[in-house]
Amino acid sequence: MRTYLKHIKRATAAGAVILAAASLQPASAFAAPAPQPTGSPQTRVVGGTRAAQGEFPFMVRLSMGCGGALYTKDVVLTAAHCVDGSGPNTSVTATGGAVDLQDSKAVTVKSTEILQAPGYNGKGKDWALIKLAKPIDQPTLKIAENDTFNNGDFQIAGWGADKEGGAQQRYLLKATVPFVDDATCQQAYGSSLTPGEEICAGKLTTGGVDTCQGDSGGPMFRKDDAGAWLQVGIVSWGEGCARPGKPGVYTEVSTFAADIKKAAAGLGG
Ligand code: ARG
Repeated sequence: MRTYLKHIKRATAAGAVILAAASLQPASAFAAPAPQPTGSPQTRVVGGTRAAQGEFPFMVRLSMGCGGALYTKDVVLTAAHCVDGSGPNTSVTATGGAVDLQDSKAVTVKSTEILQAPGYNGKGKDWALIKLAKPIDQPTLKIAENDTFNNGDFQIAGWGADKEGGAQQRYLLKATVPFVDDATCQQAYGSSLTPGEEICAGKLTTGGVDTCQGDSGGPMFRKDDAGAWLQVGIVSWGEGCARPGKPGVYTEVSTFAADIKKAAAGLGG
C-alpha cells in the first residue's frame, strides 16, 4: 500500500476517482478470458491485438502481477512500484518464452535478488531489476542509452487489464502508441509528471489505446536505425487507461540507462 498512499498524498486535490484510477499498484488477480480465434484482431482492450508466439521473446510476466523484459537472460527490468525493496528475494516467479501463460512450453524461473531503483519514493525513478535463479533462454531487449529514439511510434505489450477495471489476460496483447512530448503531458498531469525521468505516450485526442493495470514494469519499445528492438520506456502509471487527454506515463529508460547497467553488473549470482 506504500505507493498507493504516496499517490493519494500527491493527488489530494484530484478526487477519489482519480486516486483509484492513477494508482501505481500492480494488479493481483489473474482471470483467463475465453480463448479467442486468431486471425480476427480484437480492438476491445486498450486497443490491443494478440502478439504472435515469438514476436516479443524478451517479454516476461511476473507473479506479483506485473510485466518485465529480459535485460539479460537472467536479469529482468521492471518497475520499482512492482517490488517491495532491495535484497535477496525468492518470492517472484518470472514466466517467459510464451505468449500464452498456460502454454506447456512456458518457462518459469524464481527470483534470487531484487534491486529497486535507489532513491525510489513513488515519484519518478520507477525501475527495478530482478535477478533470476537461472537464465530464460530467449533474446534480450537492448535499452536506449540516449534520447535519440525517444520519439515516434512505440510498441507496448503486456498481460494486464484489457480495459479499466478489466481482467488480467492469458494471452499477450500488443498495441502501438505515439510519443507525447513533455509539455503536452504536463498539461494532462501537472506536477505529478517528472519530465526528466518519465516519457509519455498515447493517442491524445481519441484515447482508446494504452497500457493498463498489470502491464506495469513491461517495456515500451521501438526499432532503432538497424531495425532492432530498443526499450525506451517502462510501464509506470496513468489516469485510468486509454482516456482521451490522459496519456500513459513510462519511465524514461535513457535517463537511467547507466544506472541500470551498473546495477545489473552488481547483482549477485
Ligand atoms: N500502474 C499500473 C500497473 O501497476 C500501470 C498503469 C498504466 N496506466 C496507463 N494508463 N498507461 O500495472
